[in-house]
Amino acid sequence: MRVVVHGLTKTYFSGRKLEKRVRALGGVDLEVRDREFFGVIGPTGCGKTTLLHIIAGLEKPTAGSVEFVGDKRTEAMVSMVFQDAALMPWRTVSENVPLGPEFRNQPVPIYKRATHYFLEMVRVLDFGGAHPSELSGGMKQKVAIARALTNDPEVIVMDEPFASLDAQTRLLLREELVNIWEKNKKTVILVTHNIEEAVMLCDRVAVMSAAPAVVKSIVPIDIPRPRSFKTMHDPDFIKCLERIWELLRSEVDRAMRENHRSGPEEEPPPRRKSIFDWW
Ligand SMILES: Nc1ncnc2c1ncn2[C@@H]1O[C@H](COP(=O)(O)OP(=O)(O)OP(=O)(O)O)[C@@H](O)[C@H]1O
Ligand SMILES: [Mg+2]
Repeated sequence: MRVVVHGLTKTYFSGRKLEKRVRALGGVDLEVRDREFFGVIGPTGCGKTTLLHIIAGLEKPTAGSVEFVGDKRTEAMVSMVFQDAALMPWRTVSENVPLGPEFRNQPVPIYKRATHYFLEMVRVLDFGGAHPSELSGGMKQKVAIARALTNDPEVIVMDEPFASLDAQTRLLLREELVNIWEKNKKTVILVTHNIEEAVMLCDRVAVMSAAPAVVKSIVPIDIPRPRSFKTMHDPDFIKCLERIWELLRSEVDRAMRENHRSGPEEEPPPRRKSIFDWW
């Protein structure tokens, strides 16, 4: 399934009288190919989550369109994996995974089979009866990935799925994610802050500008798969890292300066009365 994003803009209005205006997206054009592993990287606050929410249908754009192009039409076109797994704490792992098909009233035996299959694939099957509070952060993220796959979407969008994990768990989960993607070959759109992660996992990476975001450049990652820990020492890998950082650096700098400028006006601290004031 191809995802064609055209002229996407989003302006948020907030405050009691909707007087505050934030331009999050400034006209995003993108085309994600069928079964591609596509990365999105950009400075903090530039609009990456907004972009994913719009693609996933969780939010409406101010203008522009998202089109899914492919021969297959499934009930669930897009599934989203959030940064914090977002599992329902009162449900067990096996009850959390089939949320999508359950809400669509699919036959129980079919989604039970899918739940078993994907929990086994992410290697959490033994914890099927456990509640989310009994799982580590990495395991929760695996359950969230299994949930997205059980939904059988054509496209999976992931918003910094490994950001809250420790470095070693991250490395392992990256490898597992690529293995899963190679078996299932869904179209994946991954938002990450981590340049290394983007280069390790993706076929192409879109570098976004500071808010309101537009696509500044798309960097192809022409590094053969399978990629492993050793790939990180490959000169081509390092070239890709450098290229992305070169594009990103000025945007991060701009985002920081603009954040600083648009921050709340600080009141000067009250001057302490000194003994001389009494004179
Ligand atoms: N519901 C909302 N109402 C008002 N403003 C919002 C809302 N959601 C996001 N924003 C603003 O839109 C801008 C983009 O936010 P978004 O969360 O998409 O950025 P991001 O690139 O995902 O940031 P980060 O890298 O920190 O996750 C920010 O200035 C944010 O404050
Ligand atoms: Mg975000």
